[in-house]
Amino acid sequence: KKIVVLISGRGSNMVALARACAAEGWPARIVGVIGNRPGAEGLARAAEQGLPVRVVDHREHADRESFDAALAAEIDALAPDLVVLAGFMRILTDGFVRRYAGRMLNIHPSLLPAFPGLATHRRALAAGVRVHGSTVHFVGAELDDGPILAQSVVEVRDDDTEQTLEARVLEAEHRLYPLAVRWFVEDRLRVEGRRVRLLPRPG
Ligand code: GRF
Repeated sequence: KKIVVLISGRGSNMVALARACAAEGWPARIVGVIGNRPGAEGLARAAEQGLPVRVVDHREHADRESFDAALAAEIDALAPDLVVLAGFMRILTDGFVRRYAGRMLNIHPSLLPAFPGLATHRRALAAGVRVHGSTVHFVGAELDDGPILAQSVVEVRDDDTEQTLEARVLEAEHRLYPLAVRWFVEDRLRVEGRRVRLLPRPG
């Protein structure tokens, strides 16, 4: 299967996916990494991994429709089976979401449905929750919403700051996202309403 990864920044989840895909011999390969910010650190890291890199600069587009159309054209040229959002910080139009329905995943740094949106670690600390974490989900019409494939839980420690909590969640994401993407490429996921069933590994 062919995977396209969309990033905006650091790209550490993209690197984790690329490494797992190669090291574990998935029946898949990353055919392209597309960024919306030309200088993003993640694009350089993708190139280091030997992955083809493209940029669709959102500042060159007057509105979301035009940006999403340009992005979709780049994606479709690579003919992927799966689109993986990995720290992609743009709100997508309904048309774009529909186009990749059932084959677009996102990772969000909270235990959804708690704390959709930004500043999740700060908000988790402010709310006093004792567990926090991250969620991999199919991308649905609403922001940070859609059938959940997998979550990983981290404890919140008394001495946590936003930075220490973020670091612990990110480390967990680097294990969680490769696992979830692998399930998709192995065709083991069945979406049933809001729930996602994981089929046993064949053989
Ligand atoms: C991750 O925490 C992810 O959950 C969120 O953005 C962050 C991206 O980090 N959507 P990176 O670019 O993968 O390092």
